[in-house]
Amino acid sequence: RPALSTDALAGLMMEEVPLARIAQAVGTPTWVYSAGTLRRRARALCDALREAGLDATVHFATKSNPNLAVVALLAGEGLGADVVSEGELRAARAAGVPASGIVFSGVGKTEREMRLAIAEDILQLNLESAEEAEMLDALARSLGRRARVALRVNPDVDARTHAKITTGLTENKFGVPIALAPALYARLCAMEGLEVVGLATHIGSQITQGVSSYAAAYARLGSLVRELRAQGLPVERVDCGGGLGIPYRDEIPASPAALAGTIKAGLGDAGVKLMLEPGRWIAGPAGVLLSRVVIEKQSAGRRFVILDAAMNDLLRPAMYEAWHGILPVSPAAFHAPQTPADVVGPVCESSDTFAKGRNLPALPPASLVAFLDAGAYGASMSSTYNARPLAAEVMVNGSDWSVVRERQGYEQLLAGQRIPGWITRPGE
Ligand code: LLP
Repeated sequence: RPALSTDALAGLMMEEVPLARIAQAVGTPTWVYSAGTLRRRARALCDALREAGLDATVHFATKSNPNLAVVALLAGEGLGADVVSEGELRAARAAGVPASGIVFSGVGKTEREMRLAIAEDILQLNLESAEEAEMLDALARSLGRRARVALRVNPDVDARTHAKITTGLTENKFGVPIALAPALYARLCAMEGLEVVGLATHIGSQITQGVSSYAAAYARLGSLVRELRAQGLPVERVDCGGGLGIPYRDEIPASPAALAGTIKAGLGDAGVKLMLEPGRWIAGPAGVLLSRVVIEKQSAGRRFVILDAAMNDLLRPAMYEAWHGILPVSPAAFHAPQTPADVVGPVCESSDTFAKGRNLPALPPASLVAFLDAGAYGASMSSTYNARPLAAEVMVNGSDWSVVRERQGYEQLLAGQRIPGWITRPGE
């Protein structure tokens, strides 16, 4: 984690900025992103693809972090965007991603979303079913347009990741079974409202068990490309999806170079342009969630550290039993003796638990801690559960830092709600 370091006086730093300084100025909980890490990781991925000799573009999966500053910074590095909703499409455009760099994925694109994608003339929509293809074809024809599409194929390989984030098995809702793809692809090519440009796949997220699942998927896609070409059908590009994992704890995920090599082995001689849709690998290690200790309590022989961040902020531990590193920020805590603690939030659910039995120093009230690897699927999965406002987001760049999303105010939190006149309020 090159962006994080410890300073004997200033405590835990991101790049050249003490995290305590940010907490003091902006309050907590706050997400803090490193511009340097985002840039470095975007470049490392692009370099690995180039060094493997692949003709590939990278489209950042904005679902992992749709903050406009993050997407804009990555757009500046030449990355496009992989979006899954009108909101993400608008965010990508607002951040300066050209429409020609945007791919729209997802099993349930609404007609309104399709209309916007056509109006914006984005790079491609990844179609997930025959039904969706018919809907888009009819819409495009009614507009006198042709929508560029790829067919998302489900290669039926096990990505060997958490069940909630695996997507490439036949039992998952994603894509069309690979066995049915040739016939459907031919049907799509005959639709007047569609310009069929190729294939797409995505087998899952947080893939850490080597590249064998990728290898199986890309080999199947490679033979499908050859089969379609043999039928005289055009296949210009293959979108290889995302999913490359990161080490949250002790996982040893494959490197971008290994992934690039695997893509090359499966699709390198298919004569197609390649696309990648990484989210977590780029943004995950670039962010921390900064939180303050409200209080420590002892109960039934257990030590509980209660934070001002909760599952509504960082949902991953509650939802996937995900492990995030937790570091104290104060230099006084670095070498203090540690004892096991359950680290919890204030939300009224037992699942609002970030860690159990984690070794931590004594953390008096107002001590700061940082959750590591929180730059992907952190802020983007937040909610306002327990009427807790969305946390602020900050980006650090060298010795400089900026608020890139203000903390939600209580007025904003209540905004838009109405009490109908027919509800009598006490005292009326
Ligand atoms: N492309 C498609 C079609 C996807 O569905 C996803 C993620 C990605 C790309 C990006 O995958 P990545 O490179 O980030 O692994 N909330 C979960 C992760 C859900 C991922 C959903 N799809 C988590 O916090 O672990």
